Amino acid sequence: MSDLQKEIKRRRTFAIISHPDAGKTTLTEKLLLYGGAILQAGSVKGKKANKHAVSDWMEIEKQRGISVTSSVLQFEYNDFCINILDTPGHQDFSEDTYRTLMAADSAVMVIDASKGVEAQTKKLFKVCLLRHIPIFTFINKMDRAAMDPFKLLEHIESELGMETYAMNWPIGSGKEFKGVYERDHKRIIAFHGGDHGMKAAEVTEGSLEDETFRSVLGDHFFEKLKEDSELLDIASTQFDKDKINHGQMTPVFFGSALTNFGVEPFLSHFLDMTTSPLPRESSIGEIDPFDERFSAFVFKIQANMNKAHRDRIAFMRICSGRFEKGMEVTLMQQNKKVKLSQPQQFMAQDREIIDEAYAGDVIGVFDPGIFSIGDTLCDPSMKFEFKKIPTFAPEHFARVTQRDTMKRKQFIKGITQIAQEGAIQVFQEINIGMEEIIVGGVGVLQFDVLEQRLKSEYNVDIKLEILPYQCVRWIDDQSIDPNTLNLTSESKRVRDLKGRNLIIFMNNWGIKWATEQNKGLTLSEVGNAE
Ligand code: G4P
Repeated sequence: MSDLQKEIKRRRTFAIISHPDAGKTTLTEKLLLYGGAILQAGSVKGKKANKHAVSDWMEIEKQRGISVTSSVLQFEYNDFCINILDTPGHQDFSEDTYRTLMAADSAVMVIDASKGVEAQTKKLFKVCLLRHIPIFTFINKMDRAAMDPFKLLEHIESELGMETYAMNWPIGSGKEFKGVYERDHKRIIAFHGGDHGMKAAEVTEGSLEDETFRSVLGDHFFEKLKEDSELLDIASTQFDKDKINHGQMTPVFFGSALTNFGVEPFLSHFLDMTTSPLPRESSIGEIDPFDERFSAFVFKIQANMNKAHRDRIAFMRICSGRFEKGMEVTLMQQNKKVKLSQPQQFMAQDREIIDEAYAGDVIGVFDPGIFSIGDTLCDPSMKFEFKKIPTFAPEHFARVTQRDTMKRKQFIKGITQIAQEGAIQVFQEINIGMEEIIVGGVGVLQFDVLEQRLKSEYNVDIKLEILPYQCVRWIDDQSIDPNTLNLTSESKRVRDLKGRNLIIFMNNWGIKWATEQNKGLTLSEVGNAE
């Protein structure tokens, strides 16, 4: 095996998806702790004090104290090179969060054991489904009052429509969370200490047949575990690697990120089961990650809010070959040669300039304003485009007008460019056109970004009026004249910048009405790329 192949083979690139507060940050930090990338928990993203540790170059982040950037954390664990794509939650949820999932080869879904599947997890899950990537479930906060584990599995299956397979099983919960039982090796891992989660957990391991665990766990928990394990073997579905690889079955792990219990067993199983970088679909068929020639696609563009630095960073996922600092590649969409300068990678606690990177890695390169979301970059000897990134339905809408009517031209130019970059979606009402501009975002933060960028880059002040709409859907059959559709009075017929017809709805009821009243009308939550 060549050095290139070895490097690619050991890469694991995944995203962690969850609802805010389920424990994504804590788990990420614990993975870094186990990987040795940090020595003590609490040093990466102390939620309050140290939020900017990973990325702090955006003005908006500083102002709002949140991390807008989907940072990519790279660290080593055993012989693996791990890339974790961060999917921002809370108020900084945006279309970028969805797009980041397009760059991952698998996803880890963190669920709060007392709450089950929550709204944001469901949304992110749906995006993972689009790509059929493997999804691993970590049921977190087992050290607190938790739902019954059998009920949790049922709940995940019914909420997400995906089969579950418990890889391990919790022994007790809350203050009596004593360990996990690994089903494949019939092995008990009992936890001790853990130094309140600051250091790796101490464990005692042994077989379910080993009677000494009766005293380690206590009679009651030992007996209950034997019962549960028998029940699981009878009642649970068969382990099916193929289904797991295609996102139809999720392997489930129980643990507590805060106390580190169950984190290490999760990590080692996960790394064993998930794959090295996968081939990507393109206009000439699948691109093999092991191809020596470099190729990548842009999935995120981070504008710099600082007036003094109008530069941007384009984040790209390398899909094949090796990247070298300063290399010249073809930007396919413009059929243009570009030099990738100032490449950056995000290590555990800093970003740093890198000299090389491989398929599976994500790099951020300086963007003088030439890249767009979905762009393909490849070795000059290649000629193809990766499958485009779809457009995701916004859930927040606002009417935008410029404060100074004399600046109409800059306003239209700015908003169109910012939309083309993918920072916001722009809709025009059919029959009205650019007279009234409605912007849509997956998260409200996208409006702040728009406002600040129009001001700093185009010198245009805007007025944003939040509209009460909640959903938008693309009309599948674009030959239908939207004016002929029977819709509720508050629904809006609009067109996006690509000229596609959509309908903006007040709520799900409006969508239901539209499909019931208009025979044959089908609507999509995702706008196809072309
Ligand atoms: P997020 O990134 O998914 O939003 O969640 P985050 O890790 O920030 O965790 C949210 C809260 O839940 C934090 O508490 C965190 O300490 C706590 N938490 C995470 N994992 C566990 C767990 O396994 N068990 C228990 N009991 N708690 C857990 P906080 O008080 O909101 O924040 P902080 O002040 O402790 O940082």
